[in-house]
Amino acid sequence: MRTQIAIIGAGPAGLVLAHLLHQEGIASVVLENRSRHYIEQRLRAGLLEQDSADLLVSTGVGDRLLRERMLHKGLYIKFNGELHRIDFEDLVHKSVMIYAQQEIVKDLVAARLGYGEPIFFEVEDVALDGLESNPRVSFTHDGQRQVLDCDFIAGCDGFYGVSRRSIPQDKITVFERDYPFAWLGILAEAPPTEDELVYTHHERGFALLTMRSPKLSRIYFQCPRNEDIKNWPDDRIWEEFRLRTAGDGRKLSEGPILQKGMTDMRSFVAEPMQYGKLFLAGDAAHIVPPTGGKGMNLAIADVRVLSRALTGFYKSGRSGLLEAYSRVCLRRIWKVQRFSWWVTSLLHRFEDDNAFDLRRQLAEIDYVTSSRAGSMTWAENYVGLPMEWD
Ligand code: PHB
Repeated sequence: MRTQIAIIGAGPAGLVLAHLLHQEGIASVVLENRSRHYIEQRLRAGLLEQDSADLLVSTGVGDRLLRERMLHKGLYIKFNGELHRIDFEDLVHKSVMIYAQQEIVKDLVAARLGYGEPIFFEVEDVALDGLESNPRVSFTHDGQRQVLDCDFIAGCDGFYGVSRRSIPQDKITVFERDYPFAWLGILAEAPPTEDELVYTHHERGFALLTMRSPKLSRIYFQCPRNEDIKNWPDDRIWEEFRLRTAGDGRKLSEGPILQKGMTDMRSFVAEPMQYGKLFLAGDAAHIVPPTGGKGMNLAIADVRVLSRALTGFYKSGRSGLLEAYSRVCLRRIWKVQRFSWWVTSLLHRFEDDNAFDLRRQLAEIDYVTSSRAGSMTWAENYVGLPMEWD
């Protein structure tokens, strides 16, 4: 087999890239180790920046998004038991929306299969070779060993994928930060408590009220890392949410819990995002803690830069944009890393916090919610920094 771009991974990064390349007449093959059912059901974050959504709409895969998304022109920050609103429209004239990652995945898979381009699901034993000059991907599909020759490989296979691990260790530098906590998240059959997201600071730890539809709530709270979810029967989860979100007399909306799971918290960047003919995009190259709602948006921003660089290469034969790929992406990634780290440290309780730290944290949240400059900093980053092409 031969193609122009071999794309490893059918998450948002791989599928958006495949779609953008298709629009430019560039052929690709997408390889995914999970089943179609799995990637279309996997529960992940759901916050989409305006620019990410605009890209999907302007390239013809946003019809359902426009019908089903929940538009948010602001959010609430709750601390000392009181709600404070950050008004994006007023501050930065932009908004964000809730449209779940797996819905975007469904739309993109349907579009790609609709125009007849290949996605191989449930591939096994993927190996990347010849990264310096003659890239090749070997994999097993339906019991058959296959070899895919290509011009370039896009490694969009997430943090645990094979792509980043195929780069010689001395050619890549990793920057990492762990957090001493995780999030326990639930999906519940309960209308959202508020019309917008609520980021809550509480002495017992952070909590976030978000949503998936007018009938479905998605709620998270901070808990110790490596916590066993078996220690959290439904009653105990609701009790903890009630404690953390109490204060202003508003009643938490509750209902049957449909799913629950744990999310790790990590900040991670691998530099550079290129080795020879292999380009990393999305979680394969970087992880942000979910507090800023940035993961999927960063992945989409990466592949915008990559598809533009590849298009430039095929149209003009020049490789300048490909050589700049890592530098252009990392400039934005580090700003988003900074924001995600900042909102995480602003709202969570840390093990070694003392009384001073708690007072300081509350003062900072008070500043963010009461000063226009403070709110502006949150709003500008949260709705998404503009793309910078170089
Ligand atoms: C979500 O809806 O899953 C979500 C929203 C915002 C976040 C994190 C998760 O910061």
